[in-house]
Amino acid sequence: MKGGVGKTTCAVNLATRLARDHGKRVLLVDFDSQTNASLSVMSESAWDKWSAEHGTMADVLEVRGRKERGEPRKLADCIIHNVLPEVPGLDLIPSHLALTFIDLDLAARPGRERIFARKIAKVRDEYDVILCDCPPNLMTATQNALYASDAYLIPMQPDYLSTLGLRLLQDRLGYLKRELEFKITCLGVIFTRVRAWIRYHAETMERLRTDKEFKRLHFFETVIPENIKLAEAPMEAKPIELHDSSASGAEAFRALTREVVARLG
Ligand SMILES: Nc1ncnc2c1ncn2[C@@H]1O[C@H](COP(=O)(O)OP(=O)(O)O)[C@@H](O)[C@H]1O
Ligand SMILES: [Mg+2]
Repeated sequence: MKGGVGKTTCAVNLATRLARDHGKRVLLVDFDSQTNASLSVMSESAWDKWSAEHGTMADVLEVRGRKERGEPRKLADCIIHNVLPEVPGLDLIPSHLALTFIDLDLAARPGRERIFARKIAKVRDEYDVILCDCPPNLMTATQNALYASDAYLIPMQPDYLSTLGLRLLQDRLGYLKRELEFKITCLGVIFTRVRAWIRYHAETMERLRTDKEFKRLHFFETVIPENIKLAEAPMEAKPIELHDSSASGAEAFRALTREVVARLG
């Protein structure tokens, strides 16, 4: 539910490593109108061309404006196969700015939170992992991602206000699960943007890992350090591995991905 905590960075780099190190067939789906995940693996000009000639999540989720321009597009037509030549097996459904209006546009549409689940069913057998990057809210786009998913990951910065957010998030997800009647499990919490020199980061992580309130939650061992290379990589439209594979952030994502694969079983 927060912006800037490293959700997109986790989605992009986990997706890359799952494909590259573990040979998984991965589909990365960008649900955020900010298109950050899309532009972390493709250039702006490539995105412009793709969105003009093909489809994006705005078509998949039937945001008006997009649909009226032409014939409705199939989800399969919105998939960019092997979006990075260096990472075979990583596909992407890019986002579009028009998704900003999804909540307004679909306000009166029955079953609006189930659109993605219905459409993804046709291609889900082609993938081992489908990873959805969500915007920082629990509105229509995120509800579509949750409804279609088996599990979710919570990237969080280990600071005091995020601790409050974690409780709120779990409450709201419980509410959504009851109201929309779907099952989903939490794969775990990923501590992100961790600064070793900040004492309360270490204290907060320790407190959460041992807090009775969160004893049902899994906290990944690997933490993602604050690492400037992780912020630089998207400028080249590359995951950290292809930008600087020796950076601390790259090493962290290798280790985190191993843990995620083990949790997925
Ligand atoms: N571990 C990190 N170290 C340094 N910069 C980071 C790190 N994680 C994210 N960033 C940068 O911080 C900004 C917000 O991260 P992002 O992953 O887009 O967060 P969110 O998706 O939660 O809004 C981006 O510019 C990103 O490159
Ligand atoms: Mg993001």
